[in-house]
Amino acid sequence: MNGRSDVTSHPVGDGSTPVVEVRSITKRYGSIHALHEINMKLFPNEIVGLVGDNGAGKSTLVNIISGALEPTSGQIYVSGREVSFKSPSDARDAGIETVYQDLALAPDLSIWANLFLGREEIVRGPLGWIGWLDRKTMMQRSVGDLERTRIRISSVTNRVGRLSGGQRQAVAVGRAVAWGSQVILMDEPTAALGVEQQAKVADLIKNVAGNGTPVLLISHNIPQVYEICDRILVLFHGRIIAELRPSETHVDEIVSWITGAALFGAKANA
Ligand SMILES: Nc1ncnc2c1ncn2[C@@H]1O[C@H](COP(=O)(O)OP(=O)(O)OP(=O)(O)O)[C@@H](O)[C@H]1O
Ligand SMILES: [Mg+2]
Repeated sequence: MNGRSDVTSHPVGDGSTPVVEVRSITKRYGSIHALHEINMKLFPNEIVGLVGDNGAGKSTLVNIISGALEPTSGQIYVSGREVSFKSPSDARDAGIETVYQDLALAPDLSIWANLFLGREEIVRGPLGWIGWLDRKTMMQRSVGDLERTRIRISSVTNRVGRLSGGQRQAVAVGRAVAWGSQVILMDEPTAALGVEQQAKVADLIKNVAGNGTPVLLISHNIPQVYEICDRILVLFHGRIIAELRPSETHVDEIVSWITGAALFGAKANA
């Protein structure tokens, strides 16, 4: 068996140790300084919004935490222990699940196969050394996983390549929720969704966080971020320039940090 866990049975930390912490993360792509000395903590039960304009560095930060990119410098800690990820599977083994901006689904595979990609259930043969894929179990679990996302989807045997953008997004979110045991990182999980589906994903995120698993949510949908996040971090040219709490801010103020107007004063609005 692998590390599959149920959304409803996540252990909740003691609240004092961050589930994930990054310290002084810097990333350079040649001469481009994409991230400067980023410090961030994610605590149990939190939904943390990560917002910023196009190119601010949001995906770069998520890709570093999810093992898809190596930082130029800095450290990552999971439950207080320093980790060094060489690949996304290292991060997944540490309980970090990610819905990538490009979704990272395999279009030629079925919905259920995508949900189990890289973590297939194997039935052991009689001698224990031969095994085969337990398709029936995986298909049954896939139905349950997608039911939990409360997003209506066609049969789990359909190929992902035939789904709409929004349905693909539902599969990607469903996969993260089904497997995420420590933290879920979401890079624009609602970008391609209709209004009703966006609301369902928002409920799903609240549900996941309510069960203990912190969610880092990247989104350009500022009203939604304002509505569902406990804290909002604003990235501007690779630096976190503001940490806002919805109870102490409003949508216009968040936007003015994103555009830099709040940094540079009224002139930046002109
Ligand atoms: N592979 C790469 N090689 C060179 N530069 C890159 C690469 N990936 C990203 N960048 C640069 O790093 C900066 C941050 O990009 P990133 O993708 O993290 O932005 P983002 O905040 O996710 O933007 P968006 O909202 O458009 O998705 C940008 O200036 C971008 O051009
Ligand atoms: Mg991005």
